[in-house]
Amino acid sequence: MHVIELESVDSTNSQVKRLWEGRAPGGEPLLVMAAEQTAGRGRLGRKWESARGGAWFSLGWQTQRQVGYYHPAPLLAGLAVKRGIEHAAVEEYGQPTTAGEVEIKWPNDVLLWERKVAGVLCEWQEALLVVGVGINVNNAVAGLGDGWRYPATSLAEAWGRPVEVRELIERVAAEIAAGLVELESEGFTEKKRREVEQGLAWMGQTVSVKTAQGGMTGVLAGLEEDGALRLATDRGVQVVHAGEIEGLRPRETEGKK
Ligand code: BTN
Repeated sequence: MHVIELESVDSTNSQVKRLWEGRAPGGEPLLVMAAEQTAGRGRLGRKWESARGGAWFSLGWQTQRQVGYYHPAPLLAGLAVKRGIEHAAVEEYGQPTTAGEVEIKWPNDVLLWERKVAGVLCEWQEALLVVGVGINVNNAVAGLGDGWRYPATSLAEAWGRPVEVRELIERVAAEIAAGLVELESEGFTEKKRREVEQGLAWMGQTVSVKTAQGGMTGVLAGLEEDGALRLATDRGVQVVHAGEIEGLRPRETEGKK
């Protein structure tokens, strides 16, 4: 893996795309990390605040297969982030976080104690897949997040001490790369699907999902073979390929009708 470390850049995803141009096909994966991003990008055209102290990085990957093959990539990245955070917890505390603390919010986010701690932005450009990851580590998060429903947190805020960024990036990037190698050779295996399912927020619970066609409510029943969401609704099992989950946990609906 070719690693490039920058002080400042507009967006590590954009930088990977620029650096990829003119590269020989079949090249090794490219990891670009930056201490700060001046125009960090989130999903759905949103801005991603990327002040110093966070883990902002992108992995450029030469795809070997059709785009559809890589649909589970954001989930693999989410799983890698979850494990990276859990590993960091062991380093910090000498013990793993208790089950359920770090969860994957289908399809692109990672929650820590029910607050958004990381996001994933996957982009494609011909035979290049860019997996962009942002993890709030030591950066300030006051005012970040999506209002009352998904306030943001950082590892330092949650754990009350600064956390090593570089090591976390390397660990997570290596696991994403390993996940992509496996995806290309074996597909999204049942074993991997189960691992992601076990880490999913609201598994077996009632959630609302916002899609381009509107919203629906049902019990989060797991994942399809391509990583799409299975929702058990009054009208049977619905499969959601793209959308945003809005959890209905008691704590979140407290005081609301
Ligand atoms: C989201 O939650 O909407 C996804 C956020 C992804 C942010 C990361 S930070 C590194 C990479 N570069 C970007 O511009 N975005 C991603």
